[in-house]
Amino acid sequence: MTKQNIVILGLETSCDETAAAVVKNGNEILSNVVSSQVDVHRRFGGVVPEVASRKHLESMNAIIEQALTEADRTVDDLDAVAVTQGPGLVGALLVGVSAAKALAFARDLPLIAVHHIAGHIYATQLVREMMFPSIALVVSGGHSDLYYMERHDHYRMLGQTRDDAAGEAYDKIARALGLPYPGGPQIARLAQEGRPEYSFPRAWLEPDSYDFSFSGLKSSVLNRLHQAEQKGETVRHADLAFGFQEAVLDVLIEKTIKAVRHHPVQQLVLAGGVAANQTLRSRLEERAADAGVPLAVPPISLCTDNAAMIAAAAYPKYVKQEFADMALNASAGLPLTEG
Ligand code: KG4
Ligand code: ZN
Repeated sequence: MTKQNIVILGLETSCDETAAAVVKNGNEILSNVVSSQVDVHRRFGGVVPEVASRKHLESMNAIIEQALTEADRTVDDLDAVAVTQGPGLVGALLVGVSAAKALAFARDLPLIAVHHIAGHIYATQLVREMMFPSIALVVSGGHSDLYYMERHDHYRMLGQTRDDAAGEAYDKIARALGLPYPGGPQIARLAQEGRPEYSFPRAWLEPDSYDFSFSGLKSSVLNRLHQAEQKGETVRHADLAFGFQEAVLDVLIEKTIKAVRHHPVQQLVLAGGVAANQTLRSRLEERAADAGVPLAVPPISLCTDNAAMIAAAAYPKYVKQEFADMALNASAGLPLTEG
C-alpha cells in the first residue's frame, strides 16, 4: 500500500445508537458522533426495534454530515466506508448498511463490512497499539464472549454466553428493581453502597468450559426479591445489586484469567458496554497484572456503541483489501469467524 493516510468513515446502527465517525489509519479519531435514542426507548423499559429503525432513518444523513464536518473532511477525502453488518436488530442494521452502500456506490468507494464485536475489540486500537496474540473478553448487552486473537482481524472463540449476556442480566435486574434502562450503570452505582448480605450462585459450568451463563443468577436474584416482597420483608436494593454484581464479575474474571493462563498472550483486551464498569476494569487489571499480562481497555466513552470502533476494525480489512460488494446485506445473527 503506497498511500500514507487512510481515512475511513464508519457507520453503526445495530441497536439504539445512530453513529458515524471518521478515523485515520485505524487509530486516530478525527470525529466520533453518537446520537443515542436512549431517552426514546426508556419509557418502554428497553429497545423497541421498529422505533429504533425509524429513528436511525431520521437521523442517519445528518449524523454522517456532522461526522464529516467535525473531522474537517469531505466525502472526497474518504478512502472507504465501513459499516456494522451485524449482529443486531435487522431493521436497525439495514439503515446503516443501506446508507453505506449508497455512499460507496455514488462515490465509487470501497465498502467494508464490520462485525459489531470486532468493532468493540478494536475500540482498543484507538487508544493503544494492539499486541498479539491476545485474548479479548467482550461483554455487552448481547454478548459475553472470550476470543483468542492470533493476529489482527483473526478471532477464535473460546467461550460464549449460553443464555443471558452479562449486560442483559444487568438490565433485567435493574428493571425488576424499578431502575431505568439501561440498567448496567444504575446497578453498578447502587452496588457501590451495597453490603455483602447475599451470596448468589456462580455458574462455573464444566471445568474446561469458557462459556458463561447468567440466567440462573438472574432467577436467583429475582426470587430473593419476590420472596421478600411476599413476606413483607424489606430488602436493601443496594445489597441485592452488590451480591448480583459480585457473582457476575467473579465468573467473568476467573474464566478470563484462566484463559490467559492457558494461552500465553501479549495482551488482554476488555471491551463492550459492560467494560464501562469500573469495578470490573480495576479488578481485571489487577488480576491480569498478577498473571503477567497487560490489560488494554478502551476509555469508558468508547466502550458503549460508537462508530469510531467500526472504522478502527475496518482498517485491517482495508489493508487486506477485503471489501464487500453491493450485495452486502444486514445479518442479525452474523457469526464472528476466524478470518
Ligand atoms: O456494547 P453496548 O453499548 O451495546 C451492545 O452491543 O449490547 O452495551 C450495552 C450494555 C447494556 O446492557 C448496559 O446495561 C451495559 O452495557 N453497561 C454496563 C455499564 N455500562 C453499560 N453494565 C455494567 N456496568 C456498567 N457501568
Ligand atoms: Zn455493542
